[in-house]
Amino acid sequence: MRILSGIQPSGKLHLGNYFGMMKPALELQKEGQAFIFIADYHALTSVTDPRALRQGQMDVALDFLACGLDTDKTVFYRQSDIPEVTELAWLLSVVAPMGLMERCHSYKDKVAKGLPATLGLFSYPVLMAADILIMQSNLVPVGRDQKQHVEVTRDLAIKFNNVYGEVFTIPEPSIRTEVAVVPGVDGQKMSKSYNNTVEIFAEPKDARSSIMKIVTDSKTVAEPKDPEQCNVFALYKLFASEEERAAMAERYRAGGLGYGDAKKALHEKFEAHFGALRQRRAELQKDMGYVESVLRKGAERARVEADKTLKKARQAVGLE
Ligand code: ADP
Ligand code: TRP
Repeated sequence: MRILSGIQPSGKLHLGNYFGMMKPALELQKEGQAFIFIADYHALTSVTDPRALRQGQMDVALDFLACGLDTDKTVFYRQSDIPEVTELAWLLSVVAPMGLMERCHSYKDKVAKGLPATLGLFSYPVLMAADILIMQSNLVPVGRDQKQHVEVTRDLAIKFNNVYGEVFTIPEPSIRTEVAVVPGVDGQKMSKSYNNTVEIFAEPKDARSSIMKIVTDSKTVAEPKDPEQCNVFALYKLFASEEERAAMAERYRAGGLGYGDAKKALHEKFEAHFGALRQRRAELQKDMGYVESVLRKGAERARVEADKTLKKARQAVGLE
């Protein structure tokens, strides 16, 4: 089984990215051949400062390596090191129905948030389909907001296979329902564009202050509280074991637990999880030559696969 996922280097990674995509993708490394990549071509739709793009690439690389990406097993690469992806995107775009592309939410959502309305932003899902199909992926672990893109990928693969013969494996999205949408400190979906994130590798004091800012209702310490209505509990749950979760829910319902204490408990969990990873990241950061070499080796492995699929597609359409 082939598992593939990517993330744009367009901002600091946060708990939504971690629980929605990184952790599930890293856990799937054991289940088959994983491909994880840094979607820098995609990031060009929003990042216009070349230094920020370069910095973002290296930040994401460090984040994944610190969080347990196994470089022996998993193919880890930068999208832009695989130019075959852009050629495949063109071959897919000539079968991509305009109506299907116009139904994609993300273009309209991103333009509404102020991103420039460009052709690249509009055709973003076709490039994403090329990322997925070029590696003949079976499973694509992502958060719920990317589900539609994986569905478009399936439609394009089916369409292409119907027109030209069997070239592509049809992929499935893999979405963990319990972490499909991680809330931000304001209770909306956590997202860098909403300024409501808890960054996984923020300075310890900044992480603490983000957690302390989580919005709650104004119940007093003594009042019983509904854990399922609380943003602090929603994040606590992601770190806690089954028993810890049940115990914390009980403390909410019993009354006597203040939101300040709930936030402290969440912060302790956060530090217990990310403290050691932060140290590992700092160690890795001292040797960026190593990080660069990991990405180069990953690209070599990825290109072998990309080349095979692209050849098949070129032959199928009559270019070879
Ligand atoms: P952002 O919304 O901060 O711009 P991205 O769109 O770059 O995040 O998302 C990168 C990956 O992380 C995607 O797979 C996405 O589904 C996942 N993801 C992002 N935010 C969340 C969230 N709040 N809950 C669950 N998954 C998320
Ligand atoms: N669109 C994804 C996001 O914004 C990133 C991405 C690009 C991706 N290509 C992909 C995710 C292929 C999974 C598979 O998060």
